[in-house]
Amino acid sequence: MPQSKPVVVVTRKLPDVIETRMMELFDARLNRDDKPLSPAELIEATKLADVLVPTVTDRIDKGVLAQAGQKLRLIASFGTGVDHIDLATARERGITVTNTPGVLTEDTADMTMALILAVSRRLSEGERLMRSGKWTGWGPTTMLGHRIWGKRLGIIGMGRIGQALARRAKGFGLSVHYHNRKRVHPDVEQELEATYWESLDQMLAHMDVVSVNCPHTPGTYHLLSARRLKLLKPHAIVVNTARGEVIDENALTRMLVANEIAGAGLDVFEHEPAVNPKLMALDNVVLLPHMGSATIEGRIDMGEKVIINIKTFVDGHKPPDRVIEAML
Ligand code: 8YV
Repeated sequence: MPQSKPVVVVTRKLPDVIETRMMELFDARLNRDDKPLSPAELIEATKLADVLVPTVTDRIDKGVLAQAGQKLRLIASFGTGVDHIDLATARERGITVTNTPGVLTEDTADMTMALILAVSRRLSEGERLMRSGKWTGWGPTTMLGHRIWGKRLGIIGMGRIGQALARRAKGFGLSVHYHNRKRVHPDVEQELEATYWESLDQMLAHMDVVSVNCPHTPGTYHLLSARRLKLLKPHAIVVNTARGEVIDENALTRMLVANEIAGAGLDVFEHEPAVNPKLMALDNVVLLPHMGSATIEGRIDMGEKVIINIKTFVDGHKPPDRVIEAML
């Protein structure tokens, strides 16, 4: 690392307080108008930077890393998911990668719970009805949704966010079930009153609500494949605040159109920002623009983490949130 201030290229606009601090500490190159970088601009950024601060909207693949400047030593990603970064190639090139785990757990769990409620109780549909001016008044059999109290929630991925969701779900009277590569500690299972399913297929077949809370890795790509989605009960709903790629979006859409499952709440999509147009037409689907962690507090905490990771790294220490492939 150079003795002078490191060049830190930030690909998107971050909260003012974070940008101000970055300017004090680093030779920060900011993106004031927040226009996402084109692939060519991203390559230019990796040539200029000692440290790159990307987000989920930057695809840092082999091709980009192959053209990165020799001085690029750290990719301090603003976000927890790292599926937009080719970690193996970064490691081969001696580039450290960090992320921002922990600080967006509660916000994302809140949004997951919000989607479960929104789909089950037809929140968006009701709101659309009000705004259409077509509401004719209360009716005993109109706008009926489904009770969530007493239903079974199956969480796919019992990491931080999965566990935070489980805590909320308990409060809403859902019984908590989960599938994870590894069974969680018995103390955690006990606290959450969570039932472990070694077989995802088996779990899916028994749930009323299924929530995707695992990262997107080569191993979880289309984990909810067409075959697995078919295992769901017709009255089941699916929510996803993790990554679109974990679900076969076309297969999910086909099933929703055919009423083979009851609904979906999606904050993330397989080909963001594109969304399958058929999803848009469905009333039993709640769509959000990848805003699971979008709180002012969360974004500032994420920025703080990015700064801490950069600062410790340039001071010659191991940054706290290093990501290594084996952790995924
Ligand atoms: C972030 C997310 O906003 O952290 C993540 O993995 O999906 C989002 O909540 C986004 O990734 C920022 O880069």
